[in-house]
Amino acid sequence: MAPLLLICCWLRLASEVLAQAAFDPLLYVDPLIGASDGGNVFPGASLPYGMAKAVADTNSSSNQGGFTLDGSVVTGFSSMHDSGTGGSPSLGNFALFPYTNCPGGDIDQCDFPKKTRARFGSFVNSSVSAKPGTFGITLNTRIRAEMTTTQHASIFKFTFPSVGLDGQSAQPLILQDLTDLADSRQDNGTVSVDAATGRITGSARFLPSFGGGNFVLYFCTDFSGADILDNGIFVNSRASSGIKNLTISRSINGYPLPGGAFVRFKSAANPILVRTATSFISIGQACAHGETEIPKFDFAAVSNAATEIWQKKMSPIKVSTKGVNDSMVINFYSGIYRTMINPQNYTGENPLWASDEPYFDSFYCIWDLFRSQLPFLTIVDPITVTEMVRSLIDTYRHVGWLPDCRMSLNKGYTQGGSNADNVLADVYLKGIRDGIDWNDGYAAVVKDAEVEPYDWCCEGRGGLDSWKSLGYIPVQDFDYKGFGTMTRSVSRTLEYSYNDFCIAQIAGGLGKTADQEKYLDSSGNWKNLYKADQNSTWWNGTDTGFVGFFEPRFLNKTWGFQNPLNCSNLDSFSVCSLQNSGRETFESSIWEYGFFVPHDQAALMTLYGGPEAFVRRLNYLHDKNITYIGNEPAFLTVFQYHYAGRPALSAKRSHFYIPSFFSPTPSGLPGNDDSGAMGSFVAFAMMGLFPNPGQDVYLITPPFFESVNITHPLTGKTAIIRSINFDSAYQNIYIQSATLNGAAYTRNWIDHSFFTQGKELVLALGRNESSWGTHVEDLPPSLGQYVGFNRTYSSKWMVGASGTRNYKGEFGMLGHK
Ligand SMILES: *[C@@H]1O[C@H](CO)[C@@H](O)[C@H](O)[C@H]1NC(C)=O
Ligand SMILES: *[C@@H]1O[C@H](CO)[C@@H](O)[C@H](O)[C@H]1NC(C)=O
Ligand SMILES: *[C@@H]1O[C@H](CO)[C@@H](O)[C@H](O)[C@H]1NC(C)=O
Ligand SMILES: *[C@@H]1O[C@H](CO)[C@@H](O)[C@H](O)[C@H]1NC(C)=O
Ligand SMILES: *[C@@H]1O[C@H](CO)[C@@H](O)[C@H](O)[C@H]1NC(C)=O
Ligand SMILES: *[C@@H]1O[C@H](CO)[C@@H](O)[C@H](O)[C@H]1NC(C)=O
Ligand SMILES: *[C@@H]1O[C@H](CO)[C@@H](O)[C@H](O)[C@H]1NC(C)=O
Ligand SMILES: *[C@@H]1O[C@H](CO)[C@@H](O)[C@H](O)[C@H]1NC(C)=O
Ligand SMILES: *[C@@H]1O[C@H](CO)[C@@H](O)[C@H](O)[C@H]1NC(C)=O
Ligand SMILES: *[C@@H]1O[C@H](CO)[C@@H](O)[C@H](O)[C@H]1NC(C)=O
Ligand SMILES: *[C@@H]1O[C@H](CO)[C@@H](O)[C@H](O)[C@H]1NC(C)=O
Ligand SMILES: *[C@@H]1O[C@H](CO)[C@@H](O)[C@H](O)[C@H]1NC(C)=O
Repeated sequence: MAPLLLICCWLRLASEVLAQAAFDPLLYVDPLIGASDGGNVFPGASLPYGMAKAVADTNSSSNQGGFTLDGSVVTGFSSMHDSGTGGSPSLGNFALFPYTNCPGGDIDQCDFPKKTRARFGSFVNSSVSAKPGTFGITLNTRIRAEMTTTQHASIFKFTFPSVGLDGQSAQPLILQDLTDLADSRQDNGTVSVDAATGRITGSARFLPSFGGGNFVLYFCTDFSGADILDNGIFVNSRASSGIKNLTISRSINGYPLPGGAFVRFKSAANPILVRTATSFISIGQACAHGETEIPKFDFAAVSNAATEIWQKKMSPIKVSTKGVNDSMVINFYSGIYRTMINPQNYTGENPLWASDEPYFDSFYCIWDLFRSQLPFLTIVDPITVTEMVRSLIDTYRHVGWLPDCRMSLNKGYTQGGSNADNVLADVYLKGIRDGIDWNDGYAAVVKDAEVEPYDWCCEGRGGLDSWKSLGYIPVQDFDYKGFGTMTRSVSRTLEYSYNDFCIAQIAGGLGKTADQEKYLDSSGNWKNLYKADQNSTWWNGTDTGFVGFFEPRFLNKTWGFQNPLNCSNLDSFSVCSLQNSGRETFESSIWEYGFFVPHDQAALMTLYGGPEAFVRRLNYLHDKNITYIGNEPAFLTVFQYHYAGRPALSAKRSHFYIPSFFSPTPSGLPGNDDSGAMGSFVAFAMMGLFPNPGQDVYLITPPFFESVNITHPLTGKTAIIRSINFDSAYQNIYIQSATLNGAAYTRNWIDHSFFTQGKELVLALGRNESSWGTHVEDLPPSLGQYVGFNRTYSSKWMVGASGTRNYKGEFGMLGHK
């Protein structure tokens, strides 16, 4: 593909030139991965977690991330985005659009509305350039647009041809539109243009993309580079330089009436620089962001600063590229890059409550993020994760509950359990303490478990009375206390069970023993939906041969029925999302949810008939395409072979999915990136450690590189994974033996102290499965006893105040006992 070619050549040239220089991971980042075919990534310019995200927006029906490479055309250049999301497009506010001139010098001959100006938005793929912090594109009108950002401000550089399409000399016009990607603008947007300076300011109310409520966003835009000819406002297809202020209705036909402002310039001798900044607080704050963050309109300085910030953020992980196909390295570092686009740091930009705590937004959604994205950031960017968790807890303080999903200052829809509990437990167990009020953090997770919100669409849990009295969420529950979509009874039961386990872990760490026992007890509720005699047949009548599945259960304890294959990847007829006609599992089948007992794989395996039967069932899940790696519940199933003493099969499965389902091309992602969740899956899998999130456990597989060095940003210690007999053709992907800091190591998992203390794990690889990591004492922790192995062994581990090492000044913990 043309744009990729461009990047590859740039990369190759750069890597030759820099052969001996310091390793620069940015040379391997391609932001355009996932920019077509539903990846929905934001491929534009942003700082890590930046609020300003500048890119060219297209009119694709898959423009959730703004830009797409799918033959769609550019409709504008806007400064706020989300990345990888599904649902309706998010943000994309206050687009700019450039013309070299208006035919005959008549402003009314320029096309103002988004729909009609799109005819001037075509471009060729090879004109697109994208690298961390900077994005560029040339429209077929021969206008080159480049953009880069600071935390809250964007700067666009428009370079115009000397003559316009009508052959007249250039008198560039740049318009700014009171619009967003989803056309969600509400009543009474306003815009003003200052006659003397051309400064455009304004605000409007918009809707969040996957939640209720609305939000107001303010902006401030300044120009540099050419003398102003005139300026004014436009409404629909007509403009006037005589009018400088506009307040505009949403209109009565359901589509926001186009409206905005424009500035026209006397010449195009030099590029015109446009600085646009936004704020959720006020126009004044937006202008201040622009003035302080980009005082001199120095495009190169902003772009270089962005490059440096990204280099620093990406610097903790270095891999040996020796012998490995560049496409693997690009896959890896681009995945890492995408984990740091969202959530976004809106600290100082929250109009909803006054607080000194950080405020992060665009948790989109935690059902996706808890599994590997936030655990990944806990390793490479614990400082930011600390702020994110403080923000989640502060949201609980002021809104009443932890969110499951949150965007654009609003509550988003909850998909399953109260999965922020898992995030807090993961971070707690990995020893992060600084600045986090764990008493409030604990109160927040307990509230999820104990207090049902009146409206559990967007926080907490539903059905708590039944949960407590029956030990499961019944299908067709009777709940007169709180209201939400009454579906997903099976997946909610499984997720609530795990949420309670996560709460128990924090309780243990805080020395709340009675609570720990209580939540451990309810973490076993998943067993109540296990129907031992349930079989599973395909729609064509073929029996899968497996018996024993989770099934819906009524209030009176009798069983309901859902075909265990419904909502699987191969089911094209069931309704499986948040619709009120949805099924009892969310976006996933009973087959796949059948493995979601992350805390008690041992007991689950026993129910399934022991380790061999468990492996057969996992193989069937993957081999028959019941699961799909493009949705997050699939992630852990790739590595769950470890629990059956078959770590080799996890390694094999990981190579089955990468690169087949993840390739470094615009169409290379298996569906939405989900805010970097897919990126984090690639990063962890290729690094050779995969987390069981909510536990201090990483499952070991051989990295896709001969060595991986991970330097902890707080302790400064470097953890090293090194392979002996590494083979870049990936024949030798089976661990034969291992050492940790020089001593023999047979466990197939490792804990977080590996990273904080900078240990060295050396893996000897071979072509065949070995006995490494297969013995019962090598298996990862599980609440229940492993049986069916040659000898039973309880690896019961629990965080207990007594079993923990002291936390002071030390990351890592904890009593595995
Ligand atoms: C540009 O790339 C996209 C996706 O990679 C493709 O669909 C489109 O056809 C390409 N356009 C051209 C003109 O090659
Ligand atoms: C995008 O704009 C182009 C040019 O006006 C138009 O041909 C195309 O139909 C538009 N696509 C959509 C999905 O609106
Ligand atoms: C918009 O402004 C009009 C005129 O001032 C006012 O009547 C109306 O209530 C406003 N609408 C909203 C939603 O504020
Ligand atoms: C136009 O808007 C500007 C900035 O908001 C304001 O200072 C000015 O008074 C307004 N002019 C009119 C005529 O409303
Ligand atoms: C990892 O660190 C070791 C020890 O400092 C060093 O020898 C090795 O070159 C590093 N590997 C990479 C890929 O940077
Ligand atoms: C590297 O990977 C790409 C993409 O999979 C492939 O097309 C190419 O042939 C590989 N190169 C080598 C030298 O194996
Ligand atoms: C988040 O933004 C605030 C305000 O801009 C800043 O002080 C803080 O350092 C940022 N946090 C991170 C982790 O970068
Ligand atoms: C599956 O169970 C149903 C209900 O008990 C039964 O009718 C059916 O024969 C079973 N199918 C197989 C293949 O055992
Ligand atoms: C029924 O469908 C399953 C899954 O697609 C397939 O594996 C099996 O071969 C089919 N059986 C028949 C008899 O077509
Ligand atoms: C239990 O409830 C289900 C669903 O309402 C109903 O179909 C079934 O007859 C009930 N069974 C008994 C034994 O009450
Ligand atoms: C599973 O899907 C892959 C492509 O995604 C396809 O090649 C394979 O044939 C499918 N397998 C089955 C059993 O349907
Ligand atoms: C148990 O031990 C026997 C003999 O060493 C071995 O063949 C078998 O694979 C072992 N089974 C398991 C489940 O570890």
